[in-house]
Amino acid sequence: MSSSQGLIDPFDAAMAEIARLKLEPYVAELESKGFTVIPPEVASPGGLASRLLEAILDVSEKRTGTRPEIIEGRAHENYKGRFADYYSDQGDSPIGEYLQCLLFEGRVFEEALMNPVLLAITTYLLGYSSVLSSMSCFIKGRNKSTFALHTDTLIPSPLPAHALICNATYLLTDFTKENGATAFVPGSHKFCRTPSAQESIVGGKDGHPDAVAAEGAAGSLMIFHGNTWHGAFNRTQPGLRVSMPVLMARPNMRTEEDLFGAVPQEMIDRNPGRFKVLTQQAVSYGFSSEEGAAHRSAKAAECLIAYFEEMGLKREERIAFPHHG
Ligand SMILES: [Fe+2]
Repeated sequence: MSSSQGLIDPFDAAMAEIARLKLEPYVAELESKGFTVIPPEVASPGGLASRLLEAILDVSEKRTGTRPEIIEGRAHENYKGRFADYYSDQGDSPIGEYLQCLLFEGRVFEEALMNPVLLAITTYLLGYSSVLSSMSCFIKGRNKSTFALHTDTLIPSPLPAHALICNATYLLTDFTKENGATAFVPGSHKFCRTPSAQESIVGGKDGHPDAVAAEGAAGSLMIFHGNTWHGAFNRTQPGLRVSMPVLMARPNMRTEEDLFGAVPQEMIDRNPGRFKVLTQQAVSYGFSSEEGAAHRSAKAAECLIAYFEEMGLKREERIAFPHHG
């Protein structure tokens, strides 16, 4: 459906992109279960996942002084890190080593954000004005702690049925239940609420009876609706589970990372126009003075208007100027 000005309806454009990339089966699974795992041959063009893994090991070595060893992973067994005892009482971390703010660590991370498969499905859920909330990595060895079920939409229940957040996680090593895979309750995105403490237990005799492991080969891309109940099984096998969550959000949500004005111009210039919107340059909120509000609104509006014109799309929403009255 096109408007009289010849601009394309954004939802029609998102569906056309899904058809072009042959992603309909994954969208159907996402609709019914609240999550989907897209295999490497579809999700990681040009060996993207293996390059991401090497780059992440480089980042870890740069930040910690030690390069993670994938096969045995002894240095990460019962890992505590910055989140010891934060999530559980088992004495280790259910997420392992946690690397944050990866976008600025090399071109391959920009490529991961601009992956057409990731963008097609996250756009289906969140629209063309969606933004990157955070790009991070979990490096998890054998551990005792399970990661309790939760939603990534961090607002009080009830949650709206449509997604405000979605999580697109690159699986950079094989995910199986024994390897500490993500646990999901299929269909829980339709509950529109966060789980209770009793409902959030993973594994064991009290564990949620419907929780299943999201299994997939290294190089897969796991995408889930922000309402879907998820956590993780503990890892019982030697070696490391490495995953890179790319958290996406509607532009009215508070993001984990604050990227407005923080992205170098050369990084914006070397990427498609959408990169500027994805990195929050069209988000008008976050000012702390009237002058700042005016500056930020003008910059955001300019960016968003140019973006939708470039894409040939009808704009999805009112542009950045004040609209509370
Ligand atoms: Fe989560």
